[in-house]
Amino acid sequence: MSSSTVITNIATLVTNDPSLADGTDGSPLGLIQDAAVVIDGDRIAWTGESSKAPATDNRVDAGGRAVLPGFVDSHSHLVFAGDRTQEFNARMSGRAYSAGGIRTTVAATRAASDAELEANLTRYLDEALRQGTTTFETKSGYGLTVADESRALRIAAAHTDEVTYLGAHIVSPDYADDPAAYVALVTGEMLDACAPYARWIDVFCEKGAFDGDQARAILTAGKAKGLHPRIHANQLSYGPGVQLAVELDAASADHCTHLTDADVDALASGRTVATLLPGAEFSTRAQWPDARRLLDAGVTVGLSTDCNPGSSFTSSVPFCIALAVRDMGMTPDEAVWSATAGGAAALRRDDVGRIAPGARADLILLDAPSHVHLAYRPGVPLVRGVWRRGTRTV
Ligand code: NIG
Ligand code: FE
Repeated sequence: MSSSTVITNIATLVTNDPSLADGTDGSPLGLIQDAAVVIDGDRIAWTGESSKAPATDNRVDAGGRAVLPGFVDSHSHLVFAGDRTQEFNARMSGRAYSAGGIRTTVAATRAASDAELEANLTRYLDEALRQGTTTFETKSGYGLTVADESRALRIAAAHTDEVTYLGAHIVSPDYADDPAAYVALVTGEMLDACAPYARWIDVFCEKGAFDGDQARAILTAGKAKGLHPRIHANQLSYGPGVQLAVELDAASADHCTHLTDADVDALASGRTVATLLPGAEFSTRAQWPDARRLLDAGVTVGLSTDCNPGSSFTSSVPFCIALAVRDMGMTPDEAVWSATAGGAAALRRDDVGRIAPGARADLILLDAPSHVHLAYRPGVPLVRGVWRRGTRTV
């Protein structure tokens, strides 16, 4: 029999369900002041005013703090070995970031044992959980052989349902003279070996990686095997990735740093989420994506870490929220929505990213009276408690 818990005395509850709001504002966050939440087993059973909370088996007093949905980090690359400290140092001395650095991590990842890769993955997952991430997606892409890509996905699939096949991260160094043969491998034997472990297929559509035609061929082949597309698009330069994402009904176009008006119009016309990854711009000293422009055009915006050893070595969604508010034109409410409900939309999930009856009981207790403090108090470890599937883990 499942046990029930009520969390009372919540100063601000972010539900992400405007129909549950107490009417104090019209925010998409569906805010309830002086609230309570009831967890029954692994699900949310009730939300409302603290004074009206029903009796339960257990009781937790939030002490006038804020509660929000667990973060949904819809973009990470956590199956890897080694690090790229030297490359980061060189970049901070003025060298530009390029897709070529991925090769360093490919060599280290191929040389690592399964146990080393899994230990690395769980280390970063624990780190992310302590910072409030309760759902995460992660990708292959540092193996680039049939055996190395499929083992990366097998290891990832033991830890999350949101697994993405990214054999098309860059052309494997083994195929440097014959990119067409690598695309044939990615869409053939490698896809067959990887599809059983993955839900999604991704491609890095960029100069130095894969062009629009190659990306279309790769994503279309994945779709035919039952994988749904998501794309690394328009990160380092303008290009065809975003419009291809919308054309193929990709769940998400990720990065979206260099966008034309036609790209923004395309995103506004479809249901592809624009997932912004400010950790990458921070760590590569690149221009910020313009979240305001996308939001004003009516695009659904997600916010995620892109945690990887090259371009964005942070597992911290709160850090990304602070950057998005400070430098990308988002309000604190918008950034918190994008890191929770927006991440869920980018994974086409409706059971996470909100605190409403029936949703998964994934919650964060902040050591602050309001979610706004995530941007207002940057760099401060505000996550005081985390429930995942109804169990307190932090
Ligand atoms: O999302 N853009 C492509 N992939 C990663 C970077 C990977 C790396 O540099 O190792 C990204 O930024
Ligand atoms: Fe990425």
